[in-house]
Amino acid sequence: MKKKILKYYRLPANIKEFMSVPDTFVTRHLRKNDSIVDVGLFPSFDSFLLCNPDEIEHVYLKNGKQYQRGVLFDPIRKIIGNGLPIIDGDFWRKQRRMMQPAFHNQVLPLYANEISLAIKEMVNNWKELTKNGTTTLNIEDEMMNLTSNITLRLLFSSEISRDKQDKAVFVLNEINKKSLKHITNPLAIPMWVPTLENIRFKKHMNEIHEIMDEVIEKRKSDSNNYKEDLLQMLLDSVDDETGETMSEEQLKSEILNLFIAGTETTASVLAWTFHLLANHKNDEKRVREEIENAVSEKSSDLEIIRNLNFTNNVMQEIMRIYPPAWLLAREAMSDDEINGLKIKKGSQLLIPIRGMHMDPKYWDEPEKFMPDRFNVSNRHKFVYFPFGGGPHLCMGKEFARMEYFLTMKEVMLEFEFENVKSIVEPEILISLRPKGGLFMNVTKRTTKTFNKEKNQQQLEVNQ
Ligand code: HEM
Repeated sequence: MKKKILKYYRLPANIKEFMSVPDTFVTRHLRKNDSIVDVGLFPSFDSFLLCNPDEIEHVYLKNGKQYQRGVLFDPIRKIIGNGLPIIDGDFWRKQRRMMQPAFHNQVLPLYANEISLAIKEMVNNWKELTKNGTTTLNIEDEMMNLTSNITLRLLFSSEISRDKQDKAVFVLNEINKKSLKHITNPLAIPMWVPTLENIRFKKHMNEIHEIMDEVIEKRKSDSNNYKEDLLQMLLDSVDDETGETMSEEQLKSEILNLFIAGTETTASVLAWTFHLLANHKNDEKRVREEIENAVSEKSSDLEIIRNLNFTNNVMQEIMRIYPPAWLLAREAMSDDEINGLKIKKGSQLLIPIRGMHMDPKYWDEPEKFMPDRFNVSNRHKFVYFPFGGGPHLCMGKEFARMEYFLTMKEVMLEFEFENVKSIVEPEILISLRPKGGLFMNVTKRTTKTFNKEKNQQQLEVNQ
């Protein structure tokens, strides 16, 4: 009884700390505890923080069937509908079976061309902006526009006018912001209350549904319009077990969900990359030289990006320090026991992805940007897991990696970057966005350090 009273007494302070400095809250508990701890965050159910990789493995894999995403995801389900990243159980299993082929490694090269076109559009725009010298850009916005355009190209592009595409990007970003607000703030005014904001938001939802209806209708009605893109893969998806296809309503929910799951995540990894490389000039030089060497071999884009080993280390290190999904939650569907602690059905378990990535027990100098630490890979799989783990492992993982490397390849060869502010804090909401944007001075490169060693050897041979 005494324990219960103490828990309710501490509840407001815990919620306040979690809402204002969630990372400090998590880190404080992790540094104090080696195993699962009750963090008292909700009045109506127990909440625990998992404090070591074995406990995370227990929840993700060993006892994975007993844990689901649960009620914490209800607010976002009400906004964007039931899509793969937020559903559970048999429904999730069926959707995963149907959608997995669209993200299969062998299919991904089909998307590379559209991705490259979107990147080149951005690069050409930057060339125009920098033609008279250095220009300052909010790289976070630029990357959000880029990844939104990529997703839109693969889901909508050939079907709608440029105006409608721009409208779709705008509306989808509004939906993204609204979803974020409702997930992170339990006190947000519910959607059914007719506030000005909610009325405006409903109008946006209608607009995006109209656009999606038009896109789907056009694609379905014109067989000459067949295109091997993500939209077609989803339209063609069939459940092997039941022979069912996806209803139009479900397809629209999946499109919205893919947009939310796939744009801000990849955009934030790219934005932090340019920021940290500009602060670590030696690593930036290594990335540029690696790309230049790979390009000079004149292989295809996909072969080039397969050979970017150091750049791959950089991506991993960025996702260690700034994992876009920094904290996940699971609900216990039945009673369980973890490390001797009784977990009641309905309890919420917090999975601290960033907490593990930054824990000095597992990492030397975790605060430091050191991409070479990824030359060694003998870690517990739940000490480093930016794409999650177990059956819900990110389905867009390889897609995101392809976007990342193709962008790095085009951008690093053409531009130089300087940070306007060398220290930018992450704003910790669902993802870790740069607080106040990420402003950088961008300059078109005039001299290329192109493959110096090889050119030198070539010179010697020619002489
Ligand atoms: C660097 C970029 C990305 C990161 C770090 C990331 C991270 C994650 C994480 C941690 C999960 C697991 C969520 C959970 O366990 O509840 C997840 C799931 C998912 N992600 Fe990603 N993601 C990224 C990019 C993408 C992209 C580009 C797409 C699609 C275009 C995508 C689609 C999905 C989907 C569909 C799921 C749900 C999988 C399932 O439950 O079966 N993600 N992602």
